[in-house]
Amino acid sequence: MLLDVRDLKVEFRTRDGIARAVNGVSFGVDAGETLAVLGESGSGKSVTAQAVMGILDSPPGRITGGEVLFQGRDLLRLGEEERRRVRGAGMAMIFQDALSSLNPVLTVGDQLGEMFVVHRGMSRKDARAKAVELMDRVRIPGARERVKQYPHQFSGGMRQRIMIAMAIALEPALIIADEPTTALDVTVQAQVMDLLAELRREYRMGLVLITHDLGVVADVADRIAVMYAGRIVESAPVHDIYKAPAHPYTRGLLDSVPRLDLKGRELTAIRGLPPNLTRIPPGCAFHPRCPMARDVCRSDEPPLYAVSEVRGSACHFRTECLHA
Ligand SMILES: Nc1ncnc2c1ncn2[C@@H]1O[C@H](COP(=O)(O)OP(=O)(O)O)[C@@H](O)[C@H]1O
Ligand code: SF4
Ligand SMILES: [Mg+2]
Repeated sequence: MLLDVRDLKVEFRTRDGIARAVNGVSFGVDAGETLAVLGESGSGKSVTAQAVMGILDSPPGRITGGEVLFQGRDLLRLGEEERRRVRGAGMAMIFQDALSSLNPVLTVGDQLGEMFVVHRGMSRKDARAKAVELMDRVRIPGARERVKQYPHQFSGGMRQRIMIAMAIALEPALIIADEPTTALDVTVQAQVMDLLAELRREYRMGLVLITHDLGVVADVADRIAVMYAGRIVESAPVHDIYKAPAHPYTRGLLDSVPRLDLKGRELTAIRGLPPNLTRIPPGCAFHPRCPMARDVCRSDEPPLYAVSEVRGSACHFRTECLHA
């Protein structure tokens, strides 16, 4: 397994108390595999990614438990220097907002080229040629001219392609993309997603695709991990989830996105709001919003039960949900 995250826990010290942002999250990603991490805003997706990438704001954040095995080595137990080296060469991250992640006063050519100068010891001239090659690779038209432009001279979609180019520059084994298309309009979203999927196949990278929008990832993901209140509540191959969710929260998410295969169906939003993570409800954290909740849900926290060999659900009534 390329990335194997086990029982990861992250807390934040806030004015309201301790926010338990990640509460024992486990997932794995193989080379060439795409895992979508799905959940509403505030469910702990970005914090999970930051902990894995080693870019958690600390303080106020703190990793309080777990392992992050990357190519077999636990990153949380390596020395700072070693950890930076392993991550630097092996993992890259793509963020939602390219404009704030790119340097506004450097041309995109200089920023892309910098990767090769610093990490590959290339000359400026060779690095510039590599930058053009990369821009071609992510299909930015007129790369030879545009390499001299600044980030603000590109459209949102083109900037996102530049971020993708930066991420793949050193051919990492793993890319974590945190809501990479959320700021884009729907057509451009699909193009950027297709590009990511294509590059993932070509380089056989592992891809973790974080999103709040199931519609965006359904076509490119192999597996989905659904997060709620800092936990994974369902984990399954994407087609299993599409056929029938084994957790009421997943069902709620599915019912709130349009689907081509279910035309004319009414869309319904999940009632209520996700909990404040300083005050996670007892029992099943989803119970205040769950249409299937019963007494046991308010007192007993469901572990991630195995529903099949490849599927888990943290619901006391997973079987009922599956057949509902
Ligand atoms: N810098 C921070 N300071 C305090 N709390 C934070 C910080 N970043 C995240 N959190 C806490 O972690 C929770 C999960 O955040 P995040 O992982 O960003 O959610 P999302 O699933 O939307 O990516 C937030 O609701 C908040 O309680
Ligand atoms: S355990 Fe109970 S409250 Fe939680 S998702 Fe299942 S039915 Fe709903
Ligand atoms: Mg986020």
